[in-house]
Amino acid sequence: MRLRQFGSSSDLLPFRIFCSSTGKANTFGFLLIMRNDGEEVPLSQRQFNQEDTMATEKTLNDLFLDTLKDIYYAEKQILKALPKMARGASSPELAAAFKKHRDETEGQVDRLQQIFEILDKPARGKTCDAILGIIEEGKEVLEEYNGSMALDAGLTAAAQAVEHYEIARYGTLKSWAMTLGMEEVAALLDQTLQEEINTDRILTELGERNANTQAA
Ligand SMILES: [Fe+2]
Ligand SMILES: [Fe+2]
Repeated sequence: MRLRQFGSSSDLLPFRIFCSSTGKANTFGFLLIMRNDGEEVPLSQRQFNQEDTMATEKTLNDLFLDTLKDIYYAEKQILKALPKMARGASSPELAAAFKKHRDETEGQVDRLQQIFEILDKPARGKTCDAILGIIEEGKEVLEEYNGSMALDAGLTAAAQAVEHYEIARYGTLKSWAMTLGMEEVAALLDQTLQEEINTDRILTELGERNANTQAA
């Protein structure tokens, strides 16, 4: 790319020189780009932005890593939320299910750290607004339904929303890992995915049992 005087148009990318003594920028013309046929044409703002985007185009690898950071952050939040849900639950079975899954979640965080290691990337989380919102709903249930017959039903539903979020994320990550040829990573993600699916199944059973007891 070289510079040459050219006519004026608001769409073209101006070539400006900033004068430090006057503090003003003077326009001297427009940036030109040489086409494949050798002809020089003015570079428009739109073209410039497109080329800029192409230069920083993201890949499936980037998306995989970003999503991995998202679920790493989410798991750490879940690790803090589960003991509170266990303490709040009225039924000993539901409390036990939350405690058991809290221990499993610890192992899931370890698995994610292993994956970061395999990828040779630092284990770092990325704020996940979705999980913060879902956990916040669980806290609202704990406060608003404290001492009521419906508390366990509300806590079970809140926990299942968490599991469904995790199932969606791990399912996607496993599928991307396979597409990217990362078999070891896909196997680790699948172990966690199966734990999340199993937890969701246990919660469904507990929820149904709880509803039947209340209806009897
Ligand atoms: Fe999890
Ligand atoms: Fe989970």
